[in-house]
Formats: sequence, structure tokens, C-alpha cells
Amino acid sequence: MARRSFIRGTGSYLPTKVLTNDDLSKMVDTSHEWIVERTGIHQRHIAAEGEMTSDIATAAARDALAAAGLTPADLDLIVLGTTTPDQTFPATATAVQAKLGMTGGAAFDVQAVCSGFLFALSTADSMLKQGLFNTAVVIGAETFTRLLDWSDRGTCVLFGDGGGAVVLQAEEWDGAEDEGVITHHIRTDGTKSDLLYVDGGVSSTGTIGHVRMEGNRVFRHAVANISAAIQAVLDDTGLTIEDIDWFVPHQANKRILDAVAKKMNIHEDKVIITVDQHANTSAASIPLALNHAVRTGRAKKGDLILSEAMGGGFSWGASLFRL
Ligand code: UT7
Repeated sequence: MARRSFIRGTGSYLPTKVLTNDDLSKMVDTSHEWIVERTGIHQRHIAAEGEMTSDIATAAARDALAAAGLTPADLDLIVLGTTTPDQTFPATATAVQAKLGMTGGAAFDVQAVCSGFLFALSTADSMLKQGLFNTAVVIGAETFTRLLDWSDRGTCVLFGDGGGAVVLQAEEWDGAEDEGVITHHIRTDGTKSDLLYVDGGVSSTGTIGHVRMEGNRVFRHAVANISAAIQAVLDDTGLTIEDIDWFVPHQANKRILDAVAKKMNIHEDKVIITVDQHANTSAASIPLALNHAVRTGRAKKGDLILSEAMGGGFSWGASLFRL
């Protein structure tokens, strides 16, 4: 018998306000056609004034708890992947803890930008397996548009706000090895940080800063690193691409997803794509896409899911789990 984590429910939340490509074309020199052709994005959601990352995260967590048939009283761990905290400190996860009315356990943030959800998932999974906690909500939530330079067409058309969550629960398990949360591959390379970063921070400029990116170079690294991470989790388990029921990737750019699918021989019908609806929501995009796959009835209990992400740092990774 060994402890293993299982996904009990998924949830998500998107702010009400929608910004279309046509809206953006009135703000910068761009067009709906350019954005759709180069990224696959049609629209993005924007947090309302006063709506914070913790509000988005709490809504997503409540949705996942309801799907799991659990309440905040059942939780003893919150791990939140975010790059856009409410405040520099305390951790936004503690605000979520308070908003949920959860008084025990522990809550903390993980910062790995677009890979934040996978880093948070692997952290929570390890802690559950180790026996430190029993029931966790793992959240990816962002108010990423607050980091944008709205005069930079190379970045401002790409991102949006939102949140997604999964409830994980530990069980003593002596069944098959490919049940529940199976494995993760998590990597970073700090020498590439100048290709995607925010030009501000507490200890550098004392300002929040704006997103800066060499999109073209990030694109090429993304395809290579994501493909390597997918191969690593397959090698780790002995599973093959054909065994995977659904690919639930980080939603940055549909062309990246197409390029990875082509390189790894993934059938396009198996790739969950939501980037058209909410753009790149950084750490939120995987749980948003996962919840979409579950709620639309595509991904079902027992399906094998492979998720992958790549983002600032560089940070990247892949996770393999069965619903
Ligand atoms: O999730 C975190 C990781 N981030 C990513 O994965 C993003 C990765 N990169 C990308 O998704 C793509 O590189 C972009 C969508 C950012 C850009 O697409 P691209 O095909 O790599 O275009 P490019 O940067 O090579 O630019 C092509 C042209 C340039 O004009 P010139 O120099 O050829 O005249 C840009 O100035 O497109 C221009 N351009 C735009 N035109 C209209 C750049 N942004 C825009 C825009 N509207 N919004």
C-alpha cells in the first residue's frame, strides 16, 4: 500500500468583462485577422475593477469543491499558482483560505508563471503522498492583464485573466500504477529569463513592471521544451502517446499547440483548445482547459490526461494523471 492522490473535482471562473480582438484593434495597431492567424485567440476576459486574484481563485476553488461534493471544511491544503498576487505578501493563497472560511491546514503560493499550475500540482501531490496533508485544492489564478503594457501590441493581445482549480485527495492505494496522479516532469532554466520577464519588482525597481517578451524566440523554445517534457513523462511510465486520451496543454498560442502535436504525433482531436476563448491566462490556463474538457463531457472518469506548460523563467513541465 502506498499513498496516492486522486482528482475529485475540477472548477473554473472567468471574469464577466470580455475584450475582443476588434476592441484591441482600437487601442493598438493590430487586427482580428492578425491575432487569430498568429495565435488562435478571439477574445480574453478582464478582471473587474477591485476584483483580485484571490477573488478569482476563490470562485474557481468553490466550483471545484462543489464538483467534488466537498466543502472548505474538508480541505487541509491550498496551493495557488500565480504570478499576479493581491499583495507582495502575504501569499494570495492565505487570502483564499480566509475567503473560503478554512481555518486550519496551510496555504501558500507557487510562482512559476505559465507553468505555475503544474508546479503547484506536483508540489501538492508530493505533500499528499508524503502524508503531510489529506485534501488539497490546487489553483491556478491570475489577473495577468494588470501586468500588460497596453501600448505594446506584441504582448497586450496575448493575455487574459481567469482561474481554475482541482481538488486532490490522498488515498492508501494498492491498485494499478497508472491511476490517479501518476507523474510529473518539472524543469527551469534561469539563463533564458531575459526572453520573457516583467521589467519591475520589489527589490529591483520598486515598481510592478510590465511583461516583456521576445515572442518568436520563446515560441521556438516552447515547442522544444514542451516536447521534451512530454517524452520524459512517457519514458518515466512506459506509456505511449496512443495511451493518452486527452492533451490538456497550457493555452498560450494555438500555433504552439499545433507544432507540439505535429512533432509528437498527437492526433488533433485529442487536444483540448480553449485559448480562442480566454487567451493566455498564465497559471490558470491548464485548469481552465481541464474543467472545460470535463464539463463539456469530453474528458470522463478513467481518462488518461497529459498536461504540459512552458513559461517565464524559463519554466516548463508536464504532468500525467487519470481522472
Ligand atoms: O505562455 C508563455 C509563453 N509565451 C508564449 O508562448 C508566446 C510565444 N510566442 C508567440 O506566441 C508568438 O511569437 C507571437 C504571437 C507573440 C508573435 O507571433 P510571430 O509569428 O512569432 O510574429 P513575430 O514576433 O515574428 O512578428 C511578425 C510581425 C512583426 O512585424 P514585422 O517586423 O514582420 O514587420 C511584428 O511587429 O508581426 C508584427 N506584430 C503584430 N502585427 C499585428 C507583432 N504583434 C502584432 C500584433 N498585430 N498584435
